[in-house]
Formats: sequence, C-alpha cells, structure tokens
Amino acid sequence: MTERTLVLVKPDGVARGLVGEVISRIERKGLKLAAVELRTVPQALAEEHYAEHKERSFFGELLEFITSGPLVALAVEGPRAIAAFRQLAGGTDPVEKATPGTIRGDFALETQYNLVHGSDSPESAERELKLWFPDL
Ligand code: RTP
Ligand code: MG
Repeated sequence: MTERTLVLVKPDGVARGLVGEVISRIERKGLKLAAVELRTVPQALAEEHYAEHKERSFFGELLEFITSGPLVALAVEGPRAIAAFRQLAGGTDPVEKATPGTIRGDFALETQYNLVHGSDSPESAERELKLWFPDL
C-alpha cells in the first residue's frame, strides 16, 4: 500500500552536507519525493513536532538543536514508506543500535546528532505531515 512519511534531514545533516546522500538513498530504495523544503524551524513547530518527548530530560536540548539552523523537510512516498525509511535511517543510537549500511550507522556518532528523522507509525506520519506540509 502506498504511504507517505515525513523525513527530516536535521540541522547536523544539512551542516555536514549530507542532504544529497540522504535523498540519494531514499531514491535508490525506490521511494519518491512528494515535497522538499529547506527551512529554519520556529520553536513552536519544533515543540509540536516532538510533543511526545515533552517530559524527557533531553527535550530542551532537542529543541535547541532542531532550531539551531536550517533543516530539510521531505514528504516521501511509496509502498510501506514509513517502515522503509526507518530501515534506511537505522536505530536512534547511531553506534549501539544503527548498523553499518544505514544512514545513522554510516554517518553519525551521537544520539542527539543522528542526522535524520522519520515518522514512526501511520498515525505519526499523518500528524507530522499535516504539521510540516499542510497544503500537500
Ligand atoms: P526521530 O523521532 O528524530 O526520528 O528519532 P527516533 O524516533 O529514532 O528517536 P526518538 O526516541 O523519537 O527521539 C527523538 C530524537 O531525540 C533525540 N534524542 N536524544 N540524548 C538522548 O538520550 C536522546 N534520545 C533521543 C535524538 O535526536 C532522537 O532522534
Ligand atoms: Mg521519533
């Protein structure tokens, strides 16, 4: 079934020049880009996006990081796009969980600076796409 998912190349990925690398992996997997936008995120959108982590100890740092510079937001579509991108990204901790061959496993060292975000369920994808691409 065709799905859409929200992908973010976070500010660390943009700063390190890895946008092309991430898009290339998305396209080589067979997924399609439905929307792409470079933007610097206002605090309110960052808070809404990561609302599920509001009570976590790292929430403040996470907001500071995600608003620290431009990021690239993408709407990505294809069969099982949500799980397929999570597979490309690798686990949250880029050393303990993400394996080599994944984006995080190949290019990241620290959990906070793990380069990409991908929606984690159909419900999250729907909520996040409305937030980031209301006109899509
Ligand atoms: P994301 O939401 O960004 O796609 O990442 P995820 O599902 O793999 O991980 P999640 O548990 O949703 O965490 C969201 C983001 O918060 C940062 N984080 N820092 N310092 C820490 O212990 C910690 N834990 C999570 C990461 O940037 C993570 O991607
Ligand atoms: Mg998450």
